Amino acid sequence: MAHALDRHLALIGFMGAGKTTLGSRVAELIGRQFFDLDQEIEKSVRRSIPDLFRREGETGFRVLEAEETLRTLKRERPAVVALGGGAIETPAIREALREHALTVLVEVEVDAAWDRVARSARPLASDPEQFRQLYERRRGLYGEAADASARDLDDVVLAALGVRIDAGARAEGDVLLADPTALELHPLELPEMHAVREKSIEEAQRLWTELGIPRDGTIVGYGGGTTTDLAGFVAATYMRGVQWIAAPTTLVGQVDAGIGGKTAVDLREGKNLAGAFHYPEEVVIDPELIATLPAEERRAGMAEVVKTGLLAGVDVWDLPEAEMIRACAAYKSGVCLGDPYEGGRRAILNLGHTFAHALEAASLYTVRHGDAVALGLLAALRLSGLPTDVVETVLDPRPVAVDRRRAWEALQRDKKVRDGRIRLVLLDAPGKPVWGVERPETEVRAALDELISK
Ligand SMILES: NC(=O)c1ccc[n+]([C@@H]2O[C@H](COP(=O)([O-])OP(=O)(O)OC[C@H]3O[C@@H](n4cnc5c(N)ncnc54)[C@H](O)[C@@H]3O)[C@@H](O)[C@H]2O)c1
Ligand SMILES: [Zn+2]
Repeated sequence: MAHALDRHLALIGFMGAGKTTLGSRVAELIGRQFFDLDQEIEKSVRRSIPDLFRREGETGFRVLEAEETLRTLKRERPAVVALGGGAIETPAIREALREHALTVLVEVEVDAAWDRVARSARPLASDPEQFRQLYERRRGLYGEAADASARDLDDVVLAALGVRIDAGARAEGDVLLADPTALELHPLELPEMHAVREKSIEEAQRLWTELGIPRDGTIVGYGGGTTTDLAGFVAATYMRGVQWIAAPTTLVGQVDAGIGGKTAVDLREGKNLAGAFHYPEEVVIDPELIATLPAEERRAGMAEVVKTGLLAGVDVWDLPEAEMIRACAAYKSGVCLGDPYEGGRRAILNLGHTFAHALEAASLYTVRHGDAVALGLLAALRLSGLPTDVVETVLDPRPVAVDRRRAWEALQRDKKVRDGRIRLVLLDAPGKPVWGVERPETEVRAALDELISK
């Protein structure tokens, strides 16, 4: 599998699967143009599809369909494209999909499809027996053409960024860069293996010299954010860039760090100071791996989960664990697809983080990131004029003992400060994030002070 960052996202599947509805929703979510091919054909010949079928027969229709579909798939600007149910029977369309699109099969059971289309005017949906035969005949073609399959919006968004979430899912590749603890608890073997312990430039340099893979080799990063950030950074820089796969094994990694293409190493002068955007071809998530996570690591992950739930306006923390991970991963994937290199809206993922970074820096990084984020979320909610009970019940953050002045200075140095002004991510309401918000210094400083205990 790969991702749809630089190509069309094509939805295929049987009539009645819901391609049009899902396609328009995903296009809106990730800010792309949406083409529904049945509608495009109707527009260009100025006739309805049933009318066209009556006049031209199925063969004539397929010719027009192929022309329109190929024209759309050859458009330069990546879009979301919903294909007609039978388009996949045309070899040239299958070929164009392979070349220009990431193809997602929208699945539907034959009975459900029949219920949805039986009373419509759709051609090929008049006789239940023929309908069933058609379904069986096309099934194999769909399976062959699809890079992934989906049943709902989250599935489509995850597939579009190459994120696969499955119990037991294992990454494949040429060289494994692994967190030793994760590897010991959950063995995984690749032809070449290296243990990695920190995301430092020294560790990157060791790997640059030790790696034995060719330019077309694939690196797999297997561990928490420390490991995947380093693996991605090495993949971005080794021979000017090789492919990589993220296989996150911590909750932080599965809901956040493994997704979105930010890679980096820490320098003595600061965290993540050297890095690059380099998207993994695939993100392989086995939610069962986090069963062995120590409690404090799980808590760190829950802070990002609560952040995500507040941004999405969904109580994701109440979901069963695997579903919670899926919902959070899908939310981040959607944001990243819409703004892959953080030109704007992606900044919302920093909710609570301006305060968190200030507390971490003021404590000389003795306060854990997750605990700092939990406090940062409190501040963001207070400044948004929203209740903080969710953060209190799920994360139970305690004010930290750091130097107030040092924390304030660190906050002002934060990346989100432009022209001496602090820009914050706040919420109009849960699910309605706003970014680049300016607040009077006194208010921001008071919010920060409230997080500090001495
Ligand atoms: N790239 C991004 O977008 C992004 C986003 C958020 C955080 N990050 C980075 O991620 C890093 C933090 O990642 P993290 O919180 O995953 O920590 P981590 O990678 O340091 O792992 C935390 C601990 O968990 C252990 N571990 C890993 N998998 C395990 C498992 N399955 N069972 C038991 N123990 C396991 C590790 O050995 C380690 O001791 C930071 O460097 C941060 O900057 C990056
Ligand atoms: Zn974070």
